Amino acid sequence: MSTLWGGGFAESPDALLWAFTVDTADRRLIFDDLHGSWAHVGMLGEQGIVTDEEAAQLQAGILEIVDEAEAGDFVFLDTDEDVHSATERRLIELVGDVGRKVHTGRSRNDQIALDLRLYLARSGSLQLQRLASLATVLVDQAERVGDVVVPSYTHLQQAQAVPLAHHLLAYAEMVRRDAERLQAAIYRTQVSPLGAGASGGSSLPLDPAISARLLGWSWHFTNSMDAVGSRDFVAEYVFVCAQSMVHLSRLSEEIVLWATSEFGWVSFPDSFTTGSSAMPQKKNPDVAELVRGRSAGVIGDLTAIMSLQKGLPLTYNRDLQEDKRIVFHADDVLAGSLQTLAAMLATAVFNPPAPNPEVTALDMAEILVGRGVAFRTAHEAVGRLLRNLGEDGRTLEEANAADLITAHELFEAGDIDRLDPVASVEHRVTPGGGSYREVVKQIKRLRSLLEDIRN
Ligand code: ARG
Repeated sequence: MSTLWGGGFAESPDALLWAFTVDTADRRLIFDDLHGSWAHVGMLGEQGIVTDEEAAQLQAGILEIVDEAEAGDFVFLDTDEDVHSATERRLIELVGDVGRKVHTGRSRNDQIALDLRLYLARSGSLQLQRLASLATVLVDQAERVGDVVVPSYTHLQQAQAVPLAHHLLAYAEMVRRDAERLQAAIYRTQVSPLGAGASGGSSLPLDPAISARLLGWSWHFTNSMDAVGSRDFVAEYVFVCAQSMVHLSRLSEEIVLWATSEFGWVSFPDSFTTGSSAMPQKKNPDVAELVRGRSAGVIGDLTAIMSLQKGLPLTYNRDLQEDKRIVFHADDVLAGSLQTLAAMLATAVFNPPAPNPEVTALDMAEILVGRGVAFRTAHEAVGRLLRNLGEDGRTLEEANAADLITAHELFEAGDIDRLDPVASVEHRVTPGGGSYREVVKQIKRLRSLLEDIRN
């Protein structure tokens, strides 16, 4: 068997060693690998390390392999140790001996670091679009539900009245932040490691700035050992995936809860629910359950990528080959979850019941605060009012003017009108708070930020 490194080896690799060490997960990097080789060869030509004609032949061969891969005609062989070995083998097959010059001034160590950076920058920009799309669905739904009022929850107990739109927009904010985090991660990823070589650079006149320019990137490495030995850019990407999945998981948990007959907030068309093999009445929100479930695997990916780095001496170690399965898994799960959850949410029909009357209790206390009563005193007065009503078997909504004035002398008969969740929302004035005015502002702001992320 011929390997990239067989020159000094008296024996062929053992079959078990080969099966254990060969990487096939990296095959999806083939376009990035070819892209990187194309830039590397361009730099070799500009620097006169290969002749212009050789550079042209090599680049033509590389583009031919791109065509093959695009057509699905690229054949990986069992004897290819990894994607880098496969593309170099194929290049030599296509262009002959000049192909043996492609790896001049390069190592698979800087090559794989670049491939991954190219891949994550590319895949990350698709994820940005998906994140923006999901956030847009949430904003659209917030607009569609209009002035429907629901309870906000703390401790999963009804708290204050808020527009349902405010609740949906809270998730839009989380997803928008995920997109911003991803933009920052992509920015740090677009740094070319080409020229770092095996670990210390080269005696050949390589120019990392030219390689970076040919990749369309503004930055190149400043320490070759860091360039080939570091994977924090991968970890950052996995973190963004994990945090996004955790946000989607929380949203999914709420969807599952809201779709119960007990909550009855939301329903989905048959095309976005699944049935039970046993119980004919069941329509289950499985998409949300699977998003919630799959987030566990991505949290595992984050642990894996952190653990992978922690004991490694500089610089490259073969352990790093494992980073690809981790980040690809995280990337794939996020992509599928974003797409499917967005499609499902777009079909949601919201019709929540009115909140419990007690969601106005804090408003009643604030009425007294507005009349000069200390908040703690006001809290006690409303607490007393609730207790008295409870003993009577009445709700806060059923309180009359006399009940209010018994609870505190500064209550007035007209305050009865404030015992309404809708009135509660209408009196909310905090910037960023749960009021219709703020919802309208949030929708406008989010639409414009999401537009920026899209472009
Ligand atoms: N397949 C390897 C990886 O993914 C590529 C780098 C191999 N380098 C080496 N010196 N064996 O990390």
